[in-house]
Amino acid sequence: MTPIERALQELRNGNLIGLPTETVYGLAGDATRSDTVSKIYALKNRPHFNPLIAHVCNIEMAKQLGNFSETARRLADKFWPGPMTLVLPKTEQSPVCDLARAGLDTQAIRWPAHEMAQTLISEFGQPVVAPSANRSGKISPTRAEHVRSEFGLSLPVILDGGASVLGLESTVLAVQGETITLLRAGSLARQQIEDVVGEISSATIDDTSPKSPGMLSRHYSPNAKLRLNAEGPIGDEAFLGFGSKSTDFTLNLSRSGDVQEAAANLYAMLRELDEMHSAIAVAPIPMTGLGEAINDRLARAALRETGQNE
Ligand code: TXA
Ligand code: MG
Repeated sequence: MTPIERALQELRNGNLIGLPTETVYGLAGDATRSDTVSKIYALKNRPHFNPLIAHVCNIEMAKQLGNFSETARRLADKFWPGPMTLVLPKTEQSPVCDLARAGLDTQAIRWPAHEMAQTLISEFGQPVVAPSANRSGKISPTRAEHVRSEFGLSLPVILDGGASVLGLESTVLAVQGETITLLRAGSLARQQIEDVVGEISSATIDDTSPKSPGMLSRHYSPNAKLRLNAEGPIGDEAFLGFGSKSTDFTLNLSRSGDVQEAAANLYAMLRELDEMHSAIAVAPIPMTGLGEAINDRLARAALRETGQNE
């Protein structure tokens, strides 16, 4: 049996698998089965109020789950398959179980570009829910071995699709009629979206009534203490660099100062430094392009208060 065939068999039996995508690796299961979906919440230790993204492999499957306005349709035509999640009003006949939506009347939908993910979903023939394959609040995995070290013994199959080429989660957009709200900055830069649909607003981060439950402040956190916008390391801090300004970087997100390269390296480098160091200083990253999403993740990762994680 090929790894994909084994993965399909596990999905059909209601079990979870590790799934590569171009953004980060997912913890995937049958979106239509609440017994499967409850295993995802339990394994991730994820609060039940935080809904999951249903992953599809074509526009027909997407339309079974969400009602597409004209604007939603344009975004889908332009950016799918790819690193964009659309939160749309759910359809009456959606096969996705309520638990996957945390009871909301909206559905997050994504058509990933990774070939292995597409093959799996298309042969499975049903949408697959897949949150990032990390324990809730921790760093997302961008390699099969990250998933193995997080969940190895609990997962019968972890498909190895290589390093995630983008390395940051999808950009999440809520589309209500023709109004678009950015719920989570991600691998699709704001500018690219605005080039197609004009200016978009961002949801404000508000832990008391988050517009997107996953926007709760602390998230993506290493165990090490993070210090941001650092000019250099203090004491025994590791120094995560950007650009060529300094020479005492422990690791460099992008020597040439390319935010796309930095996004792809961010989680793997944070993991690597986290294994060896108890404190990490991070050089300033510009806000241009994917810099918005990188700075968003770093800001949340640096928060230390307890009880605020996803
Ligand atoms: O790149 C990605 O999106 C990855 C890969 C595996 O596809 N998945 C991912 O899933 O990042 P997760 O569960 O870690 O993040 C999903 C985000 C959460 O912040 C969640 O609150 C939000 O999407 N979300 C899901 N359904 C929603 C809904 N109906 N309304 C608002 N936000 C929603
Ligand atoms: Mg996540």
